[in-house]
Amino acid sequence: MSKVLVTGGTGYIGSHTVVELINEGFEVVIVDNLSNSNVAVLDGIEKITGVRPAFENIDCVDYVSMDRMFAKYENIDSIIHFAASKAVGESVEKPLMYYRNNLVSLINILQLMPIHKVRNFVFSSSCTVYGQPDVLPVTEDAPIKPAMSPYGNTKQIGEEIIRDTIHAAPASYQSIILRYFNPIGAHSTAEIGELPNGVPNNLLPFVTQTAIGIRKQLQVFGDDYDTPDGSCIRDYIHVVDLAKAHVVAVKRMLQGKSLSNVETFNLGTGRGLSVLEILTTFEKVNEVKVPYKIVGRREGDIEKVWADPTIANEVLGWKATETVEETLRSAWAWEQKLRTQTTN
Ligand code: UD1
Repeated sequence: MSKVLVTGGTGYIGSHTVVELINEGFEVVIVDNLSNSNVAVLDGIEKITGVRPAFENIDCVDYVSMDRMFAKYENIDSIIHFAASKAVGESVEKPLMYYRNNLVSLINILQLMPIHKVRNFVFSSSCTVYGQPDVLPVTEDAPIKPAMSPYGNTKQIGEEIIRDTIHAAPASYQSIILRYFNPIGAHSTAEIGELPNGVPNNLLPFVTQTAIGIRKQLQVFGDDYDTPDGSCIRDYIHVVDLAKAHVVAVKRMLQGKSLSNVETFNLGTGRGLSVLEILTTFEKVNEVKVPYKIVGRREGDIEKVWADPTIANEVLGWKATETVEETLRSAWAWEQKLRTQTTN
């Protein structure tokens, strides 16, 4: 059985990916320092799959502990590296924390891979590397724009570190860089989902928390953008669709199908939706009201971005299949489940 190390495996995208890996017969080892997740996520994974993955509470910044972990779990053949800090605003306040967490972890893992004979590496990147693209939908060869935040910069630099490392030692590594658009929603069982810490920064958790009454009102950041309804446009993708792409990526490398040592794919649906469209669709499919008000623009927001997923569809052989309606239903089911659990 093929063994996969998933760093950040108790996080939002990580936990959904662990479920898909287990469903496809992989043995999973999770490394997570629980800085933005909860160990109870392991219960959710076990309920869905019937398997409790191995778990190590380790910070990937800690080289010695990571070295020991690789030695303990022999024969890891692939790594999916999610573990990273991801709040754009926080990264502006604490740049060094972001550079340390996101880059030192990456460097440690890349350094340890040849020592422990691990060859395959999947990296969580982001559409943020494109900034505001000149041409939409955005393809993988669109120019990389100057980063708008230290967070975004860590993704750009991370990609470069991977390319340089593999260029220098192509026999030791192969990598697939996945550029995520906006993951939303939760597993259909509502056993796992997004667990934001404190006041959510991202749109969907704020919408669901407002719908359930934890937040009074959603603020829609700007209605004067150059878009049909004036609010920003994003490519929202079901987190389970996104998770499945990771399994495809790992299999691709294990089966020697990669066309080069480093491949990059856009993970989006190809469909752009505005903040107001998300809001009204959420209200309609879930038959619930979300009080909102239009406020000023949020600093650093991109006006509009959505993916051209053709290369992911045709070369990687993966396609997002969930509808936005189903995705928004799953987000609401998860929020409701979460609140019944915590009030019991
Ligand atoms: C950003 C980054 C992305 C990063 C993600 C992680 C870009 C283009 N994207 O996504 O790389 O991985 O953060 O956190 O930089 N909105 C509201 N009200 C709210 C919250 C959000 O109107 O309370 C709007 C935003 O203005 C935006 C949309 O909803 O138009 C989505 O926002 P959000 O969920 O925060 O994601 P991004 O900013 O797109």
